Amino acid sequence: MKLYVSFAARIRAMIDEGVLRPGDKIFSVRQASQKYSLSISTVLRAYLLLEQEGIISSHPQSGYYVTQRKRLKQRGSPLAKDINLAEVDASKLVLTTLKSIREFGTVPLGSPFPDPQLFPLKKIHQYEKALTDDEGEWGILSDLPPGNEMLRQQIARRYLFHGMDISPDDIVITHGATEAITLCLQAVAKPGATIVLESPGYYALAHTVERLGMQVLELHTDPESGLDLDALRATISAINIAAVVLTANFQNPLGFVMPDTKKQALVALLAEQQIPLIEDDVYSELYFSDEPPKPTKAFDHEGLVLHCSSFSKCLTPGYRVGWTVAGRYRQEVERLMFLSSLSLPSAPQIAIAKFMQRDSFEQHLKQLRHTLRSQYILMRNVIEESFPAGTELSVPKGGYVIWVRLPPQLDALDLYRAAIDNGITVAPGSIFSRQKQLTHYIRLNFSHLWSLAIEQAVRQLGKLACKLLDESQQNPS
Ligand SMILES: Cc1ncc(COP(=O)(O)O)c(C=O)c1O
Repeated sequence: MKLYVSFAARIRAMIDEGVLRPGDKIFSVRQASQKYSLSISTVLRAYLLLEQEGIISSHPQSGYYVTQRKRLKQRGSPLAKDINLAEVDASKLVLTTLKSIREFGTVPLGSPFPDPQLFPLKKIHQYEKALTDDEGEWGILSDLPPGNEMLRQQIARRYLFHGMDISPDDIVITHGATEAITLCLQAVAKPGATIVLESPGYYALAHTVERLGMQVLELHTDPESGLDLDALRATISAINIAAVVLTANFQNPLGFVMPDTKKQALVALLAEQQIPLIEDDVYSELYFSDEPPKPTKAFDHEGLVLHCSSFSKCLTPGYRVGWTVAGRYRQEVERLMFLSSLSLPSAPQIAIAKFMQRDSFEQHLKQLRHTLRSQYILMRNVIEESFPAGTELSVPKGGYVIWVRLPPQLDALDLYRAAIDNGITVAPGSIFSRQKQLTHYIRLNFSHLWSLAIEQAVRQLGKLACKLLDESQQNPS
């Protein structure tokens, strides 16, 4: 047994035997490392495992504590530790998934981020280094919200390229799409308001809505065409909805594109009731077909669609540059931007603008789309060869994630844990919805440059899934 697993078992036993009780502080990482002669990373991995299981929790700047929650019964398999989906705290699972990607040096198939090797980062860094003092230091004045003008012009040109007439003055630059969506939510709704989200959908949105004191209402989202409009119509007639937030193009995790007729119907339905639609369109440039999909914003005649996007998925994941075209809420979003973070640093805005102006952004995107499409096919083939019979795969139309439906007897959290033990991360389906039905789904990231290591990791994952399925069939609970 691995060292960290046996150390975690030791702590678990102390809790079971009542040596450590709910609310007790446990050894700090350093104390445990000295007392049990373990490396810091072994202790950290053990604590992370116990956190995932909901047995302990970390309190910033204070330490680790035994949680108050009751433990569940152990199940047969050594890997089927005591997480029951009904007890899983989705926000903790998101954090542990993200931590496991960062800390373990694992094959990051569960990562939400694109592989940085896909991007012309050297070129963009050169532009950043070559900034004049005026641009770098005094940009703080000229680049206050709505943001750097040259960058807004370049973004407006991109909209034009996609057939949409958006002025640079309509655009507000933000810290990634994340801040764009947050500001848009604050501009259209007050604490207590109900916000409709997709299920499954991008997990951070539910956390953002709740952090703002608003209520999440998840609606069924079809894997091929998106949000259920009948359910939306029924909801609107039953309760007050302040806004809908969704991704119509290459939705995360499902990968679909909502058909244009449905986009049009959605915008019209919301316009009837004057309900704003916040469109999260971060994957829009990563299409596999010849033509880019239209955003729902293209069907908006009333300024009720707040279109949010960023360069995080298509150019520079680390620069955190995003934007919103917030229609009739533009001024309010700009005001909130001043109040929340004042402004973005000038350097990344200018470096991106110069790259877009002087280098072939379109050429880079063509290459990126080609690489992602090829890697999707490679990963799909390996999954089809190595995963158990009964596994089903989404057919993403773009982006870089594939949604895998495992045979229903297989608990995705068991696979998630077994994968971590084997140095591989996956994103368990349960983080993509509050509705606790996605117990046998995982999401895999195919953006990582294809290599033997990636191929072997996918095959290994398939083997683990087959083994766990066999075990569950031998010991049905
Ligand atoms: C659907 C979706 N929206 C937004 C984001 C975050 O975008 P940004 O990095 O620009 O804040 C992500 C990142 O995974 C995402 O998947």
